[in-house]
Amino acid sequence: MNTPVVPHALPGQPHIAYQNGTLMVEGVHLSDLARVHGTPLFVYSKAAMLSALGAYQRGFAGRQAQICYAMKANSSLAVLQVFAEAGCGFDIVSGGELARVLAAGGDPAKIIFSGVGKTRAEMKQALQIGIGCFNVESEAELDVLSQVAVSAGLQAPVSLRVNPNVDPKTHPYISTGLKGNKFGIAHEDTLRAYRHAASLPGLKVVGIDCHIGSQITETTPYLDAMDRVLDLVGEIESAGIPIHHIDFGGGLGINYNGDTPPEADALWSQLLTKLDARGYGQRQLMIEPGRSLVGNAGVCLTEVLYLKPGEQKNFCIVDAAMNDLPRPAMYQAFHQIVPVSPRPNAGASQVYDIVGPVCESGDWIGRDRQLLVQAGDTLAVLSAGAYCMSMASNYNTRGRAAEILVDGTQAHLIRQRESAFDTFALEQLV
Ligand code: LLP
Repeated sequence: MNTPVVPHALPGQPHIAYQNGTLMVEGVHLSDLARVHGTPLFVYSKAAMLSALGAYQRGFAGRQAQICYAMKANSSLAVLQVFAEAGCGFDIVSGGELARVLAAGGDPAKIIFSGVGKTRAEMKQALQIGIGCFNVESEAELDVLSQVAVSAGLQAPVSLRVNPNVDPKTHPYISTGLKGNKFGIAHEDTLRAYRHAASLPGLKVVGIDCHIGSQITETTPYLDAMDRVLDLVGEIESAGIPIHHIDFGGGLGINYNGDTPPEADALWSQLLTKLDARGYGQRQLMIEPGRSLVGNAGVCLTEVLYLKPGEQKNFCIVDAAMNDLPRPAMYQAFHQIVPVSPRPNAGASQVYDIVGPVCESGDWIGRDRQLLVQAGDTLAVLSAGAYCMSMASNYNTRGRAAEILVDGTQAHLIRQRESAFDTFALEQLV
């Protein structure tokens, strides 16, 4: 029999697909990329990113809305460049991200700075280049930001991140809008915090924001959070403090394993209906999507090094590891894993745990996967565009992977593989 083993269905998007029995990203064969550039290798589709962005743009057609890509999801320069050239702003969380986004050509006026622990140096750096808004997460931060702005002879545009206490129904490590989380200002303290902000000389109140979590697959938590935030806008404006923009954060999930999040345009059609009904439809809107713009635009290619049958488990040992793909180890996350060139069904497929070379039992990429593979085969870990490369480390002195951006039939090397020397280049002997 020569029928290839049918791989798992790919998460729903057309830019990464099998053609004539081999996996391609747009017009480029992944087997060619693995051969030329080696593995582990991240490969991204520019068309997939722009199509994910397009769903948001359609959703906001006719509105005053700024999409600020949450660059923590994937902060590689060429990825930022794609979104900057498409008109996006950026949501940043550190001075490092600020430097990156400027290096990629981002417009400072479209940058918003989130995060609970901004340092004075980061505030100053952001003020001096004229960023669009600081999303402030505590009253203490308001005081420090005002001092930094006054001493620089500037005024900081601020929005307060409110914690709407809504359950996003996602993994506890990535839910951020509940009372027990470190993020945002409690709903009941919000008015006081806004009065405080309005009284400080170095600040100019411009907005309000929230972000309730990540990998959200339902619409209801967004609708609930919107209601809570709009209630607050009403209270704050009644106290004489105008709110120019409303920022609803990011968080929309993607299909990793049969997940069915709403499409961005469908989600926003429902949210805008509510916004209109409550009389806020003409406000300046902002959102901070990360994962939903890049997650399913990327794959990580990895080579099978060894097959190791065992009494309880069969292991498929590959050359990518938890330092390249930290999500399974950190959140028990599921990524589909498929062969780049499925083998004809000559032998029986087997159930494997797919694991990396790192010396930790937690170093697994997929568990109990049915595969027909041999050493030397290339596998593709899917949905690897978000929170993989940006969370990669050098654990076990493993250099970080190379990255390719595919645009049609062109494959651009956008990051070289890190050498062992690169990993210790900043160290010195005593
Ligand atoms: N805005 C703020 C303030 C955030 O904290 C985040 C993500 C986003 C926007 C973007 O959320 P997204 O649209 O990507 O869901 N490493 C985890 C995800 C951590 C998300 C942290 N904050 C993972 O791999 O699942």
